Amino acid sequence: MTASNLIDGRAIASAIHEETARRVERLRARGVQPGLVFIRVGEDPASKVYVGMKERMSGQLGIRSETHVLPEATPEGELLALIDRLNRDETVHGILVQAPLPRHISEARVYASVAPEKDVDGFHPVNVGKLMLGDDTGFVPCTPAGVHELLIRAKVPVEGAEVVVLGRGNIVGKPLAALLMQKAPHANATVTVCHSRTRDIAAHCRRADILVAAMGVAEFVKADMVKEEAVVIDVGVNRVEDPAAPKGYRLVGDVAFAEVQPKVRLITPNPGGVGPMTIAMLMRNTVRAAELAAAAG
Ligand code: GUN
Repeated sequence: MTASNLIDGRAIASAIHEETARRVERLRARGVQPGLVFIRVGEDPASKVYVGMKERMSGQLGIRSETHVLPEATPEGELLALIDRLNRDETVHGILVQAPLPRHISEARVYASVAPEKDVDGFHPVNVGKLMLGDDTGFVPCTPAGVHELLIRAKVPVEGAEVVVLGRGNIVGKPLAALLMQKAPHANATVTVCHSRTRDIAAHCRRADILVAAMGVAEFVKADMVKEEAVVIDVGVNRVEDPAAPKGYRLVGDVAFAEVQPKVRLITPNPGGVGPMTIAMLMRNTVRAAELAAAAG
């Protein structure tokens, strides 16, 4: 098979950004500018890159953004106080606290402190619960929402499909499984979640019509683990040391792309697959938060 089996996440994300930009225009015509606040604690290099990309895209779409960078040693109470202030600020529609947080700060307490209607990350227990219940009035976490939207726009049939999700994290694996198993259009999949204690992961993978790799192990999925005609979605971003690379490392996914790509029906490149979709979903969630706030008046 040729390069034509690539799912172009950049192109699909661009189409969504155009839709989002039109919604921003309509809000601005009503005197509302969507506002998104990023909070980063410490100097995690990947987080700096991610927040930088999200800031730039906000600017391009007409979303006002501001970033609070707090020192690594910031006490949890100070972060919670900042979130409390932003929760009460009517010009702020979305609040994103970039993970990972330093070890002395409880991610659970932090995410539970963001007002659910400003929780554009979809990490607040109310939004997690709504996703589980199939209540679409909440916010869906951006990466699972992006994977779902990629499947829909690449016209991959999800209904009745055998989906295998590798990874059970709160950011991707768990919410994605919840999303795809719902009794809802473009869902109704039979979802298997595999993780570090799963016996014979390869056997599960080989049954998958749709295989989503989100466990954070570099090039874990090999060609002999995928069925021909499978659709493979690679969520992984892993740094592997490479003395020949300019930065001393290179980024690889959870899928051994070179050997898997020739075998399967469709596959996401990495980069250029899921990553751009995560940002597109964040922008869309933010605009929706602003629309809902404007409607509530
Ligand atoms: N770290 C990795 N992915 C994410 C995400 O989607 N949101 C936040 N806030 N932090 C992350």
